[in-house]
Amino acid sequence: MNKLIVSLLLTVGITGLAHAAGDAKAGQAKAAVCGACHGPDGNSMAPNFPKLAGQGERYLTKQMQDIKSGKRTVLEMTGLLTNLSDQDLSDIAAYFSSQSGSVGAADPKVVARGEELFRGGKLDQGMPSCTGCHSPNGAGNAAAGFPHLGGQHAQYVAKQLTDFREGNRTNDGDTKIMQSIAAKLSNKDIEAVSSYVQGLH
Ligand code: HEC
Ligand code: HEC
Repeated sequence: MNKLIVSLLLTVGITGLAHAAGDAKAGQAKAAVCGACHGPDGNSMAPNFPKLAGQGERYLTKQMQDIKSGKRTVLEMTGLLTNLSDQDLSDIAAYFSSQSGSVGAADPKVVARGEELFRGGKLDQGMPSCTGCHSPNGAGNAAAGFPHLGGQHAQYVAKQLTDFREGNRTNDGDTKIMQSIAAKLSNKDIEAVSSYVQGLH
């Protein structure tokens, strides 16, 4: 691992939000309304609704707090988190995190390019590989708050990378790690790496 990645890992890890421990059982009841889009167990059917099953608790809690405060815009969720307390959000995060995430398939036409980008990055342009933070099998790093990507819908992943690149998603912290990575990705790169991620497990 090179020095850049190690220092980024430390920065992102230390500045992440601390959160109260969640209760998965209590969270299941509180998450009933979320199931319409994200699936009752967090495995959504529609490719534009992210899977939450098996996602790290810390990452989920942070995203819900960011969506609630408006730091991350999700129009479909307008008002849904307003009346939930920090404890409710932690409980919901614990519930979805305890479910197992389903895996899709990669498009064979772009899988080789996707794997190259995911595992090798674009070192000539200073872009690190994805594996350093999201791990080689896409499981992420739950303790550090690096999201689990393996099996996520390609359409959702591609939208996030495009949003980071175009400045429509800016909640990746002071290091702007994902915005700087996405800036190096072309539309074709995004299509390939997102498809690869959908089949990764
Ligand atoms: C009407 C559909 C809908 C409902 C209901 C809904 N969501 Fe979402 N949610 C979305 C969409 C769409 C996104 C992704 C938006 C984007 O493209 O960035 C999202 C994103 C998220 C994310 C971020 C996931 C990630 O990988 O970063 C979390 C966490 C989340 N929702 C939690 C919830 C919870 C908890 C509830 C119930 C209280 C809920 N959602 C209800 C549509 C919905
Ligand atoms: C130095 C660490 C690091 C590297 C390297 C990295 N990421 Fe990330 N990534 C993160 C962090 C941290 C977040 C969460 C940001 C936040 O809190 O919103 C993230 C978020 C994401 C998300 C949004 C997940 C979701 O559920 O919405 C996607 C997609 C993603 N990264 C893809 C990639 C890809 C593809 C690569 C390689 C080309 C990559 N990342 C490289 C740290 C990293």
